Amino acid sequence: MPYIPYGKQTIDTQDIKTVEATLKSDWLTQGPKIQAFEKALANYCRAKYAVAVSSGTAALHLAYLATGLAHGDEVITTPNTFVATTNMVLACGAKPVFADIRLDTYNLDETKIETLITPRTKMIVPVHFAGQPAEMSTILRLAKKHQLLVIEDACHALGAEYQNKKIGALGSDMTIFSFHPVKPITTGEGGAIVTNNRKYYAQLLLLRSHGIKKDRRGFNVMTALGYNYRLTDIQSSLGLSQLKKLDRFLTKRRQIVGWYQAELKQISNIILPIEVSPAKSGWHLYVIRVKKAKLRNQLFTYLKNHGIGVNFHYPAVYRHPYYRQSGYKNVHLINEETYQSSCLTLPCYVQLTKANIQYISNCLKHFLLNH
Ligand SMILES: Cc1ncc(COP(=O)(O)O)c(C=O)c1O
Repeated sequence: MPYIPYGKQTIDTQDIKTVEATLKSDWLTQGPKIQAFEKALANYCRAKYAVAVSSGTAALHLAYLATGLAHGDEVITTPNTFVATTNMVLACGAKPVFADIRLDTYNLDETKIETLITPRTKMIVPVHFAGQPAEMSTILRLAKKHQLLVIEDACHALGAEYQNKKIGALGSDMTIFSFHPVKPITTGEGGAIVTNNRKYYAQLLLLRSHGIKKDRRGFNVMTALGYNYRLTDIQSSLGLSQLKKLDRFLTKRRQIVGWYQAELKQISNIILPIEVSPAKSGWHLYVIRVKKAKLRNQLFTYLKNHGIGVNFHYPAVYRHPYYRQSGYKNVHLINEETYQSSCLTLPCYVQLTKANIQYISNCLKHFLLNH
């Protein structure tokens, strides 16, 4: 059996033809394709505006900057995320404050947020971990009560739903997506912000391209400290082509999860991921937990040695050396610690076959029966 990675893009001949047509056109960047991609994305998410940028990290950075996030502000978020979520808070000079996670969805525990709110708190950043939306109705209610902003890190969750609404349409201030190859759709590298707020939209467009805009005479003037976070038309045409297939991709991911659940439900010494209503997961990741946490690392090595690309999502952000050296050394969140020492990500992507899932499951069963 060839090596099975934990995640992988699905590119077909239609994607290739679409990109080829853009390469043969007059525009390689910031032409008609980026606008078409943004429009399609906003429509898909039932949002007014979308701004496509060069990565999910750039999308987070611009979204935070658009709110004026700066030194002295605090941002409440989850430790169970990719470091970009909080790195970009630090890049703005602000302070991430970690709340513990839930042990059923591994998302930010909405009941642990309120005690962390101080006069310096500016926003809450839930991350829809593994594609499963966080408990947004409580988070949005809390934000309203305390006059806080909400930016959803939905890098895992394009196409996921909450209370029958697509992510991006839940009423937060901004929602962030990533189009890295392992994500629900890809543009190679890429990201986007969707919002219903015109002021944020204008600010995001400005900051995406150096903070430069045209004045009344049509001359370029720089009015804010911006960046080059532009997505090219080449990437946008791939995004447009991929977006058409997103719902099919999501259905396939759900089928793969069904195969795993059927194969693994009898094994008593692991905990399988669950979908908690009213969330409908995009199943970006399939994360199990090993009840005897001390076996987790051995199982990781065993599966790797059998050609299975297992992974850890994620080590707690506050445990990284940089964060430990930056004032987070004494942070200890009990559910997060339990989770991060027992989690293991199994492969989950559109091209996996039932035979692949049976092979992975058999390896897992073999190891656990003998330990
Ligand atoms: C939760 C989360 N936030 C942000 C990012 C950053 O996205 P990108 O890799 O597109 O910069 C990722 C990417 O892995 C992610 O998983």
